[in-house]
Amino acid sequence: AAGSFRRSIASQLSKVLDLPPENLIKSISAVPVSKKRHVADFQFSIASIIENSSSDCLTQDLHLQAQQLAERLKCDSVVSGISAGPGTVNFTINRELLAKTVLQQVWKDGSEYGVKSELFSTVPRQKAVIEFSSPNIAKKFHIGHLRSTIVGNFIANLKVALGHEVVRINYLGDWGMQFGLLGVGFQSFGNKEKLKSSPLQHLFEVYVQINKAAEDENTKQLAKDFFRKLEEHDEQTLSIWKQFRDLSIEEYIRIYERLGVHFDEYSGESFYQERAQEVLKMLEDKGLLQKTIKGTGVVDLSEQKDLSTVSTVMRSDGTSLYITRDLAAAIDRMNKHSWDTMIYVTDKSQSNHFQHLFRILKLMGYDWAERCQHVSFGLVQGMKTRRGEVIFLEDVLNEVRSRMLQNMTSTKTTKEIQDPVETAEKVGLAALIIQDFRGLLSSDYQFSWDRALQSRGDTGVFLQYTHARLHSLEQVHGNAELTDVNVACLQEPDAISVLQHLLRYDEVLYRSSQDLQPKHIVSYLLTLSTALKITFFLVFQARLCLFHAARSVLASGMKLLGITPVTQM
Ligand code: ARG
Repeated sequence: AAGSFRRSIASQLSKVLDLPPENLIKSISAVPVSKKRHVADFQFSIASIIENSSSDCLTQDLHLQAQQLAERLKCDSVVSGISAGPGTVNFTINRELLAKTVLQQVWKDGSEYGVKSELFSTVPRQKAVIEFSSPNIAKKFHIGHLRSTIVGNFIANLKVALGHEVVRINYLGDWGMQFGLLGVGFQSFGNKEKLKSSPLQHLFEVYVQINKAAEDENTKQLAKDFFRKLEEHDEQTLSIWKQFRDLSIEEYIRIYERLGVHFDEYSGESFYQERAQEVLKMLEDKGLLQKTIKGTGVVDLSEQKDLSTVSTVMRSDGTSLYITRDLAAAIDRMNKHSWDTMIYVTDKSQSNHFQHLFRILKLMGYDWAERCQHVSFGLVQGMKTRRGEVIFLEDVLNEVRSRMLQNMTSTKTTKEIQDPVETAEKVGLAALIIQDFRGLLSSDYQFSWDRALQSRGDTGVFLQYTHARLHSLEQVHGNAELTDVNVACLQEPDAISVLQHLLRYDEVLYRSSQDLQPKHIVSYLLTLSTALKITFFLVFQARLCLFHAARSVLASGMKLLGITPVTQM
């Protein structure tokens, strides 16, 4: 919707400034809705043309320039008002045209409203590999894995919505000495029935028990032997390991489903055990592998080639490390998928690891290393469930569902809900996701169930509530029809605010697609929900259309964030 307005403003400006409209369009943006609403719908930033024109302008006062420019522009059938602000020229769109255009565009594009904007038309379609979640079998699924799961899912959703091809990979921690211990542990503490019915929990219990026992030398030796047999591909040992892995994945899939998350590939460190050896060979051939006195293999990453920064890629016994397997995995993914970008989503404690990884790939001559990206996020403190410290993802999901259900039953409306448990799950998940996505991903935050589950304010519960309310309004008053809508009925300040806000959706999506931060979309949806001020009387047909448009945008934004909008609550 904003597109036609931006184009029209750009063509006006182009005549006065004598610059091609394509150069101006990027500097025209929809004005965010604020308390002092009605200022204008669009603004053009003066600074943007000065950057690329003659330098004598720099000394001039931006405000003065804005005033001079504003004076030279004229209103027309699209623009009904022009004014100057500090460094900007502000444009107000003809009110009826604004309402008509926004509504028509939402009707036309439906759930693709925003992503179909011309803002994205110059962005080339790409293939992206996104690796996220990546828990370690038999170990805790901690809050960092949960963050990785929802952030990675958001990035994948956004990319898919924008027309890119996405491969979602889960890179499991499925190899290493822990499996030696687990194998031995299972012989003493394992239970086949439990392994089948709840593999994640059972393997974790076995792992905890055997770790206590692993103090004694005998157990340690047995674990080493088990792992060595695994590395030698002893068939029987391998089949035990495979059973642990397969059953774990089955359960992961079931739990990810509750989150609406799926993967195209379950990969893991085990895949790259052997290929890591080939990587070491390549490093050696390229003269990049250096041996230390201790016998470990390192790659020099210092600018001065003085071994001040090294990355250890080989143990003294010749075996590979975490980073060596990651090198092999990156190369393999390039061969397999010929991706344009590859994104790894983990907490920021692994930033160094990924910097080293990308540097080594570059040194090996892989220019695509520059197209690898680590999306990192901060730490979450204080998430506890009734069972105590978080160990399993399922506990978090159960906890938020039961807390939400309790909140819902204490309000009267719940009785009419067809499936309260499922609704509670979806609303609860929205609460978790919004709490997590409100700030910058890189910042740490203190987790709070009460804060997350508040029914008003900047929460996922509020978004879900707004969506459900809008849905039921449409239910009660009949579906909104765009034909014959009297847009003159949408001229009160509240309605205009909503329209202005709807106009900005593409710009918000664009920002999130650039920096991969969900918070722009989150605050956009929260503002939309606040701006709606749903009145339960006097629902004209025109208002119904506006509500329908708002709900459509709300739903598509929520889905991008990984939230399933509810229709009642
Ligand atoms: N399994 C790892 C962990 O839990 C995360 C894996 C991240 N991805 C990677 N390619 N190294 O810490």
